[in-house]
Amino acid sequence: MDAIRIYGGNCLTGQTKIQGSKNASLPVLAATLLINGTCEIENCPNISDVFHMLRLLESLGCKITREEGLVRVDTGQLSECDMPADSVGVMRSSIMLLGALLARAGSVSMEYPGGCVIGKRPIDLHLRALRRMGVEITEEEEGFCARTSGLQGTVQELPFVSVGVTENLILAAVLAQGCTIIHPAAREPEIQILCDFLQSAGAKITGVGTDRLVIEGVQSLHPVRFRVPADRIVAGTYLAACMVTGGRVFLQDAPCEHMQSVFACARKLGTEISCERDGVLVSGRACEPFPEGLVTACYPGFPTDLQSLFMVVMALSGHSGWIEETVFENRFRIVPELCRMGADITVQGARAYIHPVECLHGAIVEAKELRGGAALVAAALAAEGTSIVTNRHYIDRGYEDISLSFRELGADIELA
Ligand code: UD1
Repeated sequence: MDAIRIYGGNCLTGQTKIQGSKNASLPVLAATLLINGTCEIENCPNISDVFHMLRLLESLGCKITREEGLVRVDTGQLSECDMPADSVGVMRSSIMLLGALLARAGSVSMEYPGGCVIGKRPIDLHLRALRRMGVEITEEEEGFCARTSGLQGTVQELPFVSVGVTENLILAAVLAQGCTIIHPAAREPEIQILCDFLQSAGAKITGVGTDRLVIEGVQSLHPVRFRVPADRIVAGTYLAACMVTGGRVFLQDAPCEHMQSVFACARKLGTEISCERDGVLVSGRACEPFPEGLVTACYPGFPTDLQSLFMVVMALSGHSGWIEETVFENRFRIVPELCRMGADITVQGARAYIHPVECLHGAIVEAKELRGGAALVAAALAAEGTSIVTNRHYIDRGYEDISLSFRELGADIELA
């Protein structure tokens, strides 16, 4: 079955190792297309989004080998530039291959990408920005064809910050003719990681970590071995779960320097956070009021990907609170499911108002997207009684084995 059964009420204690970052692995894997030869990517997580990306690369003619967390991508035999619709349809980051493939092969045709249903998630900005680099794009109902006789560096003044557009433009620009300026560029750690990878392969990028990236096109890049850092959102997931069950958990390898906004919020809610050399120690239930409200924002603000997990934390904090979602317009799909478990939450536009309840109770609830699904598991761990979270496949998109990780921390949880 495609579900997880959780017997709530256990306090989380112990240690878990945080897997490699999904949102960093995907663009890095896409970036291997820019390099003729074999790249070795360490610490790639074993999650379905990565498997889809590898299948896409294979369908383009790349040779993939995997052992443990090491993925070897040999792009020497790249043959196709049309992407299979079944893989593109399920994963939004397939759009990431567009910039890289145009740089490598000059033409691509693909269906419109899928991914988590958390808003309209259009790709208009991707296409507009690539057109400005000399790409001709013909849009049809189901998909589009893109073609270029040579990517041209250009000044890209973007109307708002987008992680995906910034990544796509970086991938298109590193081998383009001349200089590309991206402003405002997203500053998410995953952008920095992508730039680290490309720089180690010989790309010329300055301004990394700022909102203005300057990329000087180079002739070619060389194969490298690269290690993907740990996933800040997965670390935040286990942190939030510990905040609702109480307890003491060590998140090995958690990237502390990239989690400051999350830690600030956790501390205000009453949980102790201690950053150590090789991870972070989390202890204590979150039961302090948080009247100022939580507002999601681009990095270094509070990540939208942890919004639903912190909704669970606030729902169980014993105080009223509110959350404002500013990045995606449809990211409160967890609310009716949490209410089914006894939460009292109302949504008005981009704000969710959370009213205190004594406790949550077990229920059968449905994961409707990746992080919302993980948040339901966290809620079920703290609830009284047994819960079943259905649609586990959404959770598998981003977590290697969420049941195993929570079992390591003392939870009573199993596949169902
Ligand atoms: C990435 C992350 C996702 C995270 C999000 C915001 C990956 C694989 N996914 O998604 O986990 O939640 O950043 O941190 O890294 N938009 C447009 N037109 C476009 C592109 C985007 O209107 O062409 C809008 C989106 O609908 C959204 C906003 O821009 O409202 C920001 O989205 P973006 O930063 O692009 O998110 P993703 O790259 O899709």
